[in-house]
Amino acid sequence: MAKFTIQQMRKMKESGEKISMITAYDYSQAVLVEKAGIEVILVGDSLSMTMLGNEGTVSLTTDEMIHHIRPVVKGAPSPMIIGDMVFGSYNESISQAISNANRLMKEGGCDAIKLEGGRPEVVRAIVDAGIPVQGHIGLTPQTASLLGGFKVQGKSLESAKKLLDEAKSLEDAGAFSIVLECVPEELGRAVSEAVSIPIIGIGAGRYCDGQVLVFHDMLGLFDKFVPRFVKQYKQIGEEIVQALQDFNEEVKQEQFPSEEHVFSGISKEDIEEISKLS
Ligand code: KIV
Repeated sequence: MAKFTIQQMRKMKESGEKISMITAYDYSQAVLVEKAGIEVILVGDSLSMTMLGNEGTVSLTTDEMIHHIRPVVKGAPSPMIIGDMVFGSYNESISQAISNANRLMKEGGCDAIKLEGGRPEVVRAIVDAGIPVQGHIGLTPQTASLLGGFKVQGKSLESAKKLLDEAKSLEDAGAFSIVLECVPEELGRAVSEAVSIPIIGIGAGRYCDGQVLVFHDMLGLFDKFVPRFVKQYKQIGEEIVQALQDFNEEVKQEQFPSEEHVFSGISKEDIEEISKLS
């Protein structure tokens, strides 16, 4: 299948067809997403928790992000692949932001980058440098402590207006899409209607132009914390634990390997020779 493009994404918004986006962080996950026909992969900084076992996203480095983008690019040729700008990689200066965005594109090989916060000046500069940018507003995990923790955003009139303004200014700055995280459904709808670029919701209700979920959350692979907006389509984690327990038990009981998993082919005479040696 051909690579999914920004233009196709825009057309889907115009026609009302919903856009699916999912995180993936390695080759085998990317192959599964490719097979499922999902349009967009985000190599999200959530990998800091799901893949690297960190407490949050702040310590993740650009080198680590690139390390994870590369195998995803190899495993999923059709979806648009978006690399997440990590905390501290775009908050010092415009030139720092451009050079780290360049790194994700050149060294990682992704098709676009995402960055958190209503920062139109940074988005404009990266877009002007030739790099497609997806914004991310609402609950922004990298700066959650400034927002009072992992809470629903935009509940007051003032904060809802601020989010609407941020969405419009990111669109004006040239962002091709925006992730809108953890806001009331009515605000998700209002933001989606207020801009012409696709709004991809996560915990932002049913009326966004598309939806994104974290791979590990939707498959039951990460049980430290499951936000209310996540639908767990499977409990793969439990199935994996069961399979590992079965393997462990069968090894102890000498049931694995059984005849079908072993090789034969040495002649009786050679076996006698070999046993003399041991
Ligand atoms: O890092 C991530 O996985 C994200 C999604 C929650 C949108 O930013």
